[in-house]
Amino acid sequence: MGPDDARRILEQEVARAREVFGRAASLDDLERARIALLGRKAPLADVQRSLGSLGADDRKQVGQATNEARDTIGSLLEERRAVLLAADAGAAMEADRVDVTLPGRRNRPGSLHPLTITEYRITDIFMRMGYRVVDGPEIETEWYNFDALNIGPDHPARKVTDTLYLEGPGDLLLRTETSAMQIHTMESQPPPVYVVVPGRVFRRDTTDATHSPVFHQVEGLAIDEGISFAHLKGTLEAFAREMFGAEQRVRLTASYFPFVEPGAQVEVSCFICGGVGCQTCGNGWIEILGSGMVHPTVLENVGYDSERYTGFAFGMGIERIAILRHGIPDIRLFYENDVRFLQQFQAVG
Ligand code: PHE
Repeated sequence: MGPDDARRILEQEVARAREVFGRAASLDDLERARIALLGRKAPLADVQRSLGSLGADDRKQVGQATNEARDTIGSLLEERRAVLLAADAGAAMEADRVDVTLPGRRNRPGSLHPLTITEYRITDIFMRMGYRVVDGPEIETEWYNFDALNIGPDHPARKVTDTLYLEGPGDLLLRTETSAMQIHTMESQPPPVYVVVPGRVFRRDTTDATHSPVFHQVEGLAIDEGISFAHLKGTLEAFAREMFGAEQRVRLTASYFPFVEPGAQVEVSCFICGGVGCQTCGNGWIEILGSGMVHPTVLENVGYDSERYTGFAFGMGIERIAILRHGIPDIRLFYENDVRFLQQFQAVG
């Protein structure tokens, strides 16, 4: 290779570098182009190798030209590499782009169960009247569930067809009413007593639209000096109006429970027909709870002085109250966990 051939090749290679690098669309393309122009088999390397066969002057000049060509090609390569790197980073950023103006994914919180909502409404009303909320065991002995409550040994509620008894030693049963907690509460403290007790109760009933073998009650107990039937009436009327609306009429009618004397059931005027009589109420009144003055025998059973202390007790079914307030047609809806039903009640604790 003569010096003129060498110079021509160097010029060609610089021009080729300009074109080939400019066409490289990726860093991989560019690497292939680098090998073709600056690698060991590139024309530039041939020129380099031919230097030894040139005369001293030519060798110096062509050698210098070779170095210049290599530098030029090197900087063309770096220029192009910078462009491709920037494009790569831009593409990565584009791929990672987040549209901050899109609305976020909404977190839909659950809601309390309608029975819990109703329980809280009931206990809240009594808490505002100074009552304390307590709870107690679902497994009881016959003493707490029956005897201490003045329910005699032959009372029909004791039959195995009504009450769920537990097998094994002892006389254990699933409580049939929260009234058992009247006894526990009075045993655990001296008067005065003002408590409400929400809880689960169990009866040997077959499930249908209005019965469930497991349901919920709220018990209430007020014991103090000088408590009269007027206090019972005033308290439960205040509760009924708060729960069902200030415009409701409330009445008490005689009723019987072994652990109270006298006993009364509280009725409110029907909120469907306004008290004139309809399918739901029949005669215009809806029973919402049982109540009465605590029987002296019950007070004596827990060691309270029934000459000094008097009081009243009441109990209501939470399902029944919720059914009445919301017009729910079937008690089973409470236990089926169908979100279409549950979603209609929105409240959080
Ligand atoms: N325990 C009764 C029931 O289950 C309700 C009640 C409670 C009645 C307290 C009077 C006093 O029906």
